[in-house]
Amino acid sequence: MPRLAVIGFPVAHSRSPAMQNAALETLGLAGEWSYRAVEATPAAFEMTVRELASLGYAGVNVTVPHKEAALALADEASDAARAIGAANTLSFSGKRIAADNTDAAGLLASLPGPIPNPRALVLGAGGAARAAIWALAHAEPPPDGNLPFVTQRVTKGREGPGFQVDVWNRTRSRAEAVFEQLGGPASLGGAVVEAPAQSAYGIVVNTTAVGLHGEDPFAELPLDPAAFAAGQVVVDMVYGDRPSALLAAAAAAGATTVDGLEVLVQQGALSLRTWTGLEPPIEAMRAAARA
Ligand code: ATR
Repeated sequence: MPRLAVIGFPVAHSRSPAMQNAALETLGLAGEWSYRAVEATPAAFEMTVRELASLGYAGVNVTVPHKEAALALADEASDAARAIGAANTLSFSGKRIAADNTDAAGLLASLPGPIPNPRALVLGAGGAARAAIWALAHAEPPPDGNLPFVTQRVTKGREGPGFQVDVWNRTRSRAEAVFEQLGGPASLGGAVVEAPAQSAYGIVVNTTAVGLHGEDPFAELPLDPAAFAAGQVVVDMVYGDRPSALLAAAAAAGATTVDGLEVLVQQGALSLRTWTGLEPPIEAMRAAARA
């Protein structure tokens, strides 16, 4: 019986088991496949992964704080995982472990439609920021065109594919380090910015933890609730039962909003497709993630 899991520390709060088991059920695979949460400390992570592989698991999602370690232990890795320096998806074939990062493509898949303005602003400089920056800078429909949820969503506003990405972070030196790691201005098209001109961007992505514990985003981030505009897309990786204060203000200004749960659903769908080869039932996954 093919088994799947998400490994994290802690992992009890993860919505992935509910979401992935709903998907397996909808696909008619619930009797055959299963997906559970596995908690492993950083010290136990590698041993746990190898044990699951040897038990015949098909693969695992990897979440905080193990994404870098997941890439490090893999025998092979996708371009995305290698560039971002982290993996959220491991696939096992015998003892061989392949690493991928579907956080990047999942972000792109969550975007609502074409974004004609090719300038992007990413707030933050942690792991979530690295995936978002790389994804936006390399955003391109796949050559075979058969990923239905990564379609022509992004226009090419400069030479080469993807957005021109600017990065802001509270601690500027971290933004500079991440920006250089991901290829600098030549690869990202943008710059590290201190006071971004909010209305100049086609898309703004908050990857910081601001809002997670009720912080006021407009006090902590270089954003003004009145400066969002219709036609902009605003993504907030933070999610809860209600729209974040950031997304509420963006929506009130007529911007299109995407929350972190939608990104979670899309990254999970891409992982499930990798393991099963089947078309993920997005609606069922969305409903379970939001239940
Ligand atoms: P991740 O979860 O993406 O791996 P992390 O490494 O935990 O991220 O970093 C969290 C991000 O939220 C960082 O960009 C952090 O900014 P610093 O690098 O300056 O610490 C940001 N962050 C957390 N609290 C913040 C706050 N109150 N104001 C602004 N940024 C904040």
